[in-house]
Amino acid sequence: MSKDRIRAAILISGSGSNLQSFIDRVERGELDLEIAVVISNREGAFGLQRADAAGIPGITIVHNQFANREDFDAAVAAELVAYSVDLIILAGFMRILSTRFVHQFAGRIVNIHPALLPAYPGLDTHQRVLDAGDQWHGSTVHFVTEELDGGPLIMQGRLKVRPGESATDLAARVQAIEHQIYPECAALLAAGRLHFENDAAYLDGTRLERPLVRDYP
Ligand code: GRF
Repeated sequence: MSKDRIRAAILISGSGSNLQSFIDRVERGELDLEIAVVISNREGAFGLQRADAAGIPGITIVHNQFANREDFDAAVAAELVAYSVDLIILAGFMRILSTRFVHQFAGRIVNIHPALLPAYPGLDTHQRVLDAGDQWHGSTVHFVTEELDGGPLIMQGRLKVRPGESATDLAARVQAIEHQIYPECAALLAAGRLHFENDAAYLDGTRLERPLVRDYP
């Protein structure tokens, strides 16, 4: 383990298959970061079992036990500070973060969204893509800003929608792509090659005018 290994927190609400893709790569020595803590806003989220099996501390902070969003976010922030976290990886974390939280950790929060942003922010992306008859779909990794699903884009994994494909099948194929592109982005962050500045993403010192694209047709 190198001394400068960055410490990441992974925030989840559910299954945590993306979390698992990080755990697997770290365990195989393919991703040089430390998953310092996993935080779930849902009790009993399966991802907490994945964390436990990997020997990673798991913490549950249930949002509806707080008077408001800011108080919940402050409780999460306190744990992130306590665990000396450098990077916050949202992986199926179904909460909107407050302005205060985003500012506190500015440029150090990333998210993955199951659509080719800026198309289809929000929920039900797979069905919306099918309803629109789109040819291409996929997932996007981006820095988190105050705007929901709106921060600077880092990387997109794209696939071609198959004729007659169901939303469930599409979701499964998109998730398989997520498990490739999200750790790839984390590796760039861990290596110090990717950073956030002036509301933009930079790779190796060059501003990304458009996201990096990985095609899985
Ligand atoms: C992923 O599809 C991600 O794009 C979205 O939530 C899902 C989380 O899945 N934000 P999992 O919990 O990682 O399996």
